Amino acid sequence: MNFKTHVNSFLTFLFVIFIIPFHLFSQNDQQIENKINAIIQQLTLEEKIDMLHAKTIFSSGGVERLGIPDLQYADGPLGIREETQQQGWEPLGLTTDSATYFPSGTALAATWNPDLALKCGIAIGEEARARNKDVLLAPSINIIRTPLSGRNYEFFTEDPYLNSVLAVNYIKGVQSQDVAACVKHYAVNNQEMSRWNINVDMNERALREIYLPAFKAAVTQANVYSIMGAYNKFRGYYCCESQYLLNDILRAEWGFKGFVVSDWGATHSTVNAANTGLDVEMGMSRRRQSFFGTSLLDSVKAGLVAEKTIDDKVRTILYVMHRCKMMDPDRKKGVLNIKEHYEIAYQIASEAVVLLKNSNNLLPLKLRNVKTIAVIGANAKRLNALAGFGAGVKTKYEITPFQGLKNRIGKKVELKFTAGYAEKFKQINRFLSVPSDTVNLALIEEAVDLAKSSDIAIIFAGSNRQIESEARDRTNLSLPFGQEKLISEVVAANPKTVVVMIAAAPHDLRNILESVSTLVWGWYNGSEGGNAIADVLIGKVNPSGKLPFTMPVKLEDSPAHALNAYDLRDSTFYKEGILVGYRWFDTKNIDPLYCFGYGLSYTTFEYSSLKLDKRQYKKSDTIHISLTIKNTGKQFGAETAQVYVKDIESSVIRPVKELKGFKKIFLKPGQKETITIPVKVSDFAYYDDNKMEWIVELGEFEIMVGASSRDIKLTKKIHVE
Ligand code: BGC
Repeated sequence: MNFKTHVNSFLTFLFVIFIIPFHLFSQNDQQIENKINAIIQQLTLEEKIDMLHAKTIFSSGGVERLGIPDLQYADGPLGIREETQQQGWEPLGLTTDSATYFPSGTALAATWNPDLALKCGIAIGEEARARNKDVLLAPSINIIRTPLSGRNYEFFTEDPYLNSVLAVNYIKGVQSQDVAACVKHYAVNNQEMSRWNINVDMNERALREIYLPAFKAAVTQANVYSIMGAYNKFRGYYCCESQYLLNDILRAEWGFKGFVVSDWGATHSTVNAANTGLDVEMGMSRRRQSFFGTSLLDSVKAGLVAEKTIDDKVRTILYVMHRCKMMDPDRKKGVLNIKEHYEIAYQIASEAVVLLKNSNNLLPLKLRNVKTIAVIGANAKRLNALAGFGAGVKTKYEITPFQGLKNRIGKKVELKFTAGYAEKFKQINRFLSVPSDTVNLALIEEAVDLAKSSDIAIIFAGSNRQIESEARDRTNLSLPFGQEKLISEVVAANPKTVVVMIAAAPHDLRNILESVSTLVWGWYNGSEGGNAIADVLIGKVNPSGKLPFTMPVKLEDSPAHALNAYDLRDSTFYKEGILVGYRWFDTKNIDPLYCFGYGLSYTTFEYSSLKLDKRQYKKSDTIHISLTIKNTGKQFGAETAQVYVKDIESSVIRPVKELKGFKKIFLKPGQKETITIPVKVSDFAYYDDNKMEWIVELGEFEIMVGASSRDIKLTKKIHVE
């Protein structure tokens, strides 16, 4: 915009303010609606249509004449994505678009700390504002259904309750900064393979109990301002033209007031998409046809889409602009890359690390007589902020595990690095490459020699964001690049070997777990990930992460695979229904490798004195569950008490247990605290497919409090009357 047009549009804007005061933010809902309607009346049909589709790859149009700005969008969960070309994905290579790299979704979920989700949301919201963004394309809250899904790292969990709690806080954080969160991908986008067109179906109960709760909570509890329609189809219709998902559930049932934006290139029609509830088409570029451009204009003129429908779409956008104070001079300005944001990234990273096995008490490392540590594995030095397909972040810095160890103990201990394995890929077709399992004997030999001559060995194994990546799933759970042999030989050479997995989804560890005494899960853990993992290893931080998903012994134990219901063709039916994740393993009595909610600490906790405020409850009651937790060890630490509920007498199949509450507390050695966890009886409901409603059955329920889904410490029964 040149100076003259800038001044003109500003004058028009003042004019609009004069006749239609746009001080919407200080007014009640009715007044705001009136003002928005008055603006809509001034817009031509062409101007309205211009607001409903992409203008550049990451913006949709405004109306300069009336001072309505364009909307600027940015990915995404890991941090504010770098700037790209206007009509393409190529980065511009600027020096001003770096941002904090926040730990990925599964890492945030492993903290089981809603306060951190809020802090993360606030920080990323501030960064979005500082980069002049209006809509943050996050959080990603699809349920982790299969361990293979390439995007599991971005999602939070397999459990709808944990998912909802984290999503709500994250969204509240983002939106407190005058930025719209765009929760994605609505709905049932649980695999990347065939995501462009696969038709997903499941029974209604599974949809309502497992896949939709976090989206519903985002709308009804966090008032999320926008939502992204997924690529896939649901029950025969693309998600961006699903009357059921968009108009019926999202708007009519949940009362969503914001706008629905298509995933990039996920719009497939004009009239259907417009009439079923899509508001903004994104992902178009000059090369791609725009369904919501001229074609939408023509459809309105031809009477196939009512102008009122267009007005409703514009209304949702103006509503979001108002909520984000886009025309308000007092809109928050945000800050970028500040120390405090990297500190939040560190806090999340350090609470995310999960200690899975420590059978020889190797951890925390006892460094008194240690002179050398062998640091083995390419992952010790790999950067993950930008790797892989899909949204990354060009961060100002990313501390690798090797650098983290150097920072923390580099002056006291000699750290010797060797790669241990080579990251080689096999090209399967033009789009797909898979990690090769070729063993590099020379690198293994070097690693074994180094481990033998060192006091301690730490192997950083796992995958990376090139393997766990958008638009593809893994094909199996094997450790890539010959790591199995590497780990076995290094452990045999030096029993004081710690294995740290840098990965965000399960791997098949059957062949190494017997010999490996010490196993830590390190995630894609953000800019400060290396410092955090080093602090956990040396005991400066006591690990408190707990798994947000089940680690199966083998792929075939997972429900979708056990039932042969992971499909890569045209359609897939989720045969496991509500039995996703631990709901399946517990109900079918299948031992996982590590269960949902599992994670060790360097200290020990004792659970006692479970008390409920009553024994009989009504459906509308909240149960106040109190219990005492004592730190019985010698180190400061944190514990997450998890509340599971079992319906003892049920007329329908119910999972053996379902998470309904949790609380994380921090305790000094010897300290004990009584905590209260509120749980709503209405949350015990199941969804009745026939009646299409939620039902809380009367009768006995068991309340179980545990340190994980399989380590239940205290139980009590209640009666719902
Ligand atoms: C992804 C979205 C992302 C969008 C824009 C799509 O391919 O599925 O999650 O926000 O691209 O980058």
